[in-house]
Amino acid sequence: MKRSYSESPSSSSYGPPQSKFKHNPEGDTHFLEDESTKIFARKVADHYSARTNQTLEEREASPIIHLKKLNNWIKSVLIQLYTKRGDAVLDLACGKGGDLIKWDKAKIGYYVGIDIADGSIEDCRTRYNGEADHHQRRKKFSFPARLLCGDCYEVRLDRVLADDAPFDVCSCQFAMHYSWSTEARARRALANISALLRPGGIFIGTMPDANVIVKKYREGLTFAQFCPACPC
Ligand SMILES: C[S@@+](CC[C@H](N)C(=O)[O-])C[C@H]1O[C@@H](n2cnc3c(N)ncnc32)[C@H](O)[C@@H]1O
Repeated sequence: MKRSYSESPSSSSYGPPQSKFKHNPEGDTHFLEDESTKIFARKVADHYSARTNQTLEEREASPIIHLKKLNNWIKSVLIQLYTKRGDAVLDLACGKGGDLIKWDKAKIGYYVGIDIADGSIEDCRTRYNGEADHHQRRKKFSFPARLLCGDCYEVRLDRVLADDAPFDVCSCQFAMHYSWSTEARARRALANISALLRPGGIFIGTMPDANVIVKKYREGLTFAQFCPACPC
């Protein structure tokens, strides 16, 4: 049985986020109250799209290689602990597909990956098709996959993924914090997850410590400087 959004307007805890509208002098009634969140989301997408794939040597030379390895180890453990053979998996903010091998090892049955950065989805597609790893003669992934570009925290994904749901596992690794730019987006993220998981389905996610980010921000660290700590 699929779970769906509750449409009750009286509840503030359930259902889709209610975007607030304000008067737009140009007459567009569908004007989000906080247009800057869209601009920020675009900035994030452009930032990740512009990131080039590192070679193995460049990656190993990174000053934070141990942190990257720790992050990847955490994801491997979560995936192995909470995924069963044949599971249908939804990977929100999947990035360049850095977890495809982990999902393959868990012997999943189906994979849907979504990311806001079109460049990352392109890289993910290339990786899935084995084109990036031809010199390593990697075998093809054993699960069918669907890869989409989109904003996981803005769009009603139950509509987009009606034919793919329900999922056994929903994963959001090192990206959940991007939904916390407004309450509406955070609610959309949670509503999407609960609408797309089967009853009893599992959500696994990781996010950085907000206190550390705020501290670093106050110390003057920019987004671009902070981001390399991510596992991708
Ligand atoms: C730190 S990377 C993590 C990528 C991947 N989950 C991993 O662990 O390797 C964060 C990812 O979140 C994506 N992202 C940020 N905001 C998003 C949004 N609103 N919708 C979908 N993806 C988003 C970025 O494009 C980026 O690929």
